[in-house]
Amino acid sequence: MKPVIWCGDCAKLIDQTLLPTQEEWITCRTPDEMAEAIFTMKVRGAPAIGISAAYGIALGAINSKATSLSELQSELAKAHERLRSTRPTAVNLFWALQEMRKIWEANNADIAELKQRLTERACAIAEEDITMCKTMGAHGAELVPEHARILTHCNAGALATGDYGTALGVIRAAWEQGKLDMVWVDETRPFLQGARLTAWELMQDGIPCKLICDNMAGFVMKQGLIDMAVVGADRITANGHVANKIGTYSVATLCKAHGIPFYVAAPYSTIDPTLHDGKDIVIEERHPDELTTLAGKRIAPAGVPVYNPAFDVTPPELISAIITERGIFRPPYDQTLVKAFS
Ligand code: MRU
Repeated sequence: MKPVIWCGDCAKLIDQTLLPTQEEWITCRTPDEMAEAIFTMKVRGAPAIGISAAYGIALGAINSKATSLSELQSELAKAHERLRSTRPTAVNLFWALQEMRKIWEANNADIAELKQRLTERACAIAEEDITMCKTMGAHGAELVPEHARILTHCNAGALATGDYGTALGVIRAAWEQGKLDMVWVDETRPFLQGARLTAWELMQDGIPCKLICDNMAGFVMKQGLIDMAVVGADRITANGHVANKIGTYSVATLCKAHGIPFYVAAPYSTIDPTLHDGKDIVIEERHPDELTTLAGKRIAPAGVPVYNPAFDVTPPELISAIITERGIFRPPYDQTLVKAFS
C-alpha cells in the first residue's frame, strides 16, 4: 500500500498516528499542511518523509497564485525552509528537497511549465522509491536463510516508503521466495511503530509475525529463535555509521553478542557522503509526553525530567552488511561505500 497518494491538486496521507485502530486519510493542500503532517508523524519513515516533502513543494507550486517566475521561486524557497525544519535526522528529506530545488533554480521555464516539472519530479521520486525498494528486497532476500526467523525494529515497510518497504521489502521478498518462517516484531518504544505499524502491515499481507517488547529481544535471541535482524536507516555516514530508530543500537549489540547477522536495508540516497562520524548526525529529540503518557494516559510522575532521543547510531563494526538497490555492501564500509560513490 502507498502511504502517500498524489491527487493532482492535493496529496492524501494515511494518518499513521491513528493506525492500526483507525484507517483515516488526511488531505494536504499546502506546503504548511504537509510540513505539519511530517512534524506530527502522520507520515513518517525516511523515504516517505522525502516523498511527502517533494509533494509539499509540488503543492506549493500547483496552488500558487504567483504572477511572475521570481515570485513563485521565492514562495517555493519559503516552502522549502518550512519543510526542511520538520525533522532533522532522515537525510531523505534534505535529498528530496534538494532535487526539487534544482528544478526551480534552473530558471529556464515559464510558470506553467515549472509547475508541471515540479509535479512530475515529485511523482517520479515516489515511483523511483518503489522500484528501489523492490530491487533492495531482491538483493536482501539472498542473505536470508531457509526457514528464517527474522527480527525487525521500528517500521521500515510500505508505510515508511513509496510502497513495499526497505527492511520489510527484504522480508516481503524472502516471504515471496518461500524462505521465511516468521518475523519477530519489536514494539519500538516510545512511538510504537513496530506494534502499531509493522505488525499491522505484516498481518495485512498474511506474513506470520510475533510481537515482543524491545526488552525481550535478548532473551528471544538467547533461546535461539532469531536467525537474523534487518532494519531500515535514516542516515548512513560514508564509513557506515547508521542512524535509525532509537533501540536499533541495542538490537545490533545483542545480535553481536549472540552471533546473529545484523543487516541494514536502505536506498543509496540514505548514504550521506559528507559525514564520516556517527557523532555528526543530528539526532532529533521529541516531546517528553511520548514517554510520560501511553495512549493519552499519564504513566510517569508529573514533572519527571525526560530524555527522548528519537534515533541512535549503530557503529559499522556491528553491521554485517548494508543492503541497497545498488547491491550489498560489506565491511570495511569506509572502503566499500566510498568506492561505490567514486
Ligand atoms: O521516527 P520515524 O518513525 O520516522 O523513524 C523511522 C525509522 O527509524 C525507520 O527505520 C527509517 O526511517 C527507515 S524507513 C524505510
